[in-house]
Amino acid sequence: MARARIAVIGAGLMGHGIAQVFALAGHDVAIYDSFEQTLETAKDRILANLKDLGDDQNAVNRVTPQSDLAAALRDADYVVEAVLEDLPLKQQLFAEIERHVRPDTILASNTSVIPITSIMQGLAKRDRAVGTHWWNPPFLVPLVEVIETPWTSAATVAVTMKLHADIGKKPAHVKKDVPGFIGNRLQHALWREAVSLVENDICDAETVDAVIKASFGRRLAVLGPLENADLVGTDLTLAIHKIVLPHIEDSTAPSPYLEKLVADGKLGMKSGQGFQTWTPEQQDALRKRVLNHLKQARANDA
Ligand SMILES: NC(=O)c1ccc[n+]([C@@H]2O[C@H](COP(=O)([O-])OP(=O)(O)OC[C@H]3O[C@@H](n4cnc5c(N)ncnc54)[C@H](O)[C@@H]3O)[C@@H](O)[C@H]2O)c1
Repeated sequence: MARARIAVIGAGLMGHGIAQVFALAGHDVAIYDSFEQTLETAKDRILANLKDLGDDQNAVNRVTPQSDLAAALRDADYVVEAVLEDLPLKQQLFAEIERHVRPDTILASNTSVIPITSIMQGLAKRDRAVGTHWWNPPFLVPLVEVIETPWTSAATVAVTMKLHADIGKKPAHVKKDVPGFIGNRLQHALWREAVSLVENDICDAETVDAVIKASFGRRLAVLGPLENADLVGTDLTLAIHKIVLPHIEDSTAPSPYLEKLVADGKLGMKSGQGFQTWTPEQQDALRKRVLNHLKQARANDA
């Protein structure tokens, strides 16, 4: 799509960032949120991000906040929904969205974990239904998972993949609409084992994170696990799996240790304690560290 009309529904953490990326790439973006104050601040938040990143601040002029859903959707080529992670809300919203768009308008949801088939099942025209799972912050993390449903047409997948590649993202085609898609399945397989190591008193939480950050975490951004398996040899990988897999956590339920943290009100940074304790200074330092790392990675990509 040369200069497309994009409608972003939801102007929260993800929505305003997604709008920013499309606008910076030259598209016209209408943004809608049902919460007036969020909509009113969307452009300011985008402008602040653009300034902070040293990106073209004129991009914000291509973003138009709309307090009326129908107006936001008028003539849209592509709609991406980023409202609260609530299935009935998303279903009802897409039923409404479909009433205001052309038959060929592609409809995407940025849900983190809800199956796209559940969200989109009520659509009259389901060949244009697709998932696009962005990562936070949308303007710094390159991946967008493009999730195909059993009804999604090949053309919808192809257009969505190209649209995101053209705006500088790294789209990944998820061929089946499985819970967690690709990224969160991989991420939470690792988190399950990380919790289990602490729960079984193999080491403390800080040590789990230190081990990852000082070892394979260093390589992960440039060496995926399957590249790594080929690097060391599939025969060695098989030999390791034969010994290690029987001992790795395989519970299909959340860990009792995690359940207890939550029950005890140890909710992580927001309560000052989770797997470890967090002073406000430590929280601030961690957030800065992550942001600086992501900015540096983006600069390296450029
Ligand atoms: N936060 C993340 O790291 C992340 C990453 C990937 C995907 N997601 C997904 O993106 C979506 C949005 O997440 P977020 O973190 O931006 O949440 P958020 O709470 O920051 O934003 C959600 C926005 O939706 C708005 N909203 C609620 N009901 C609405 C309606 N009926 N119409 C229009 N707007 C409505 C709210 O006012 C709010 O501004 C969720 O589905 C979430 O799972 C989040």
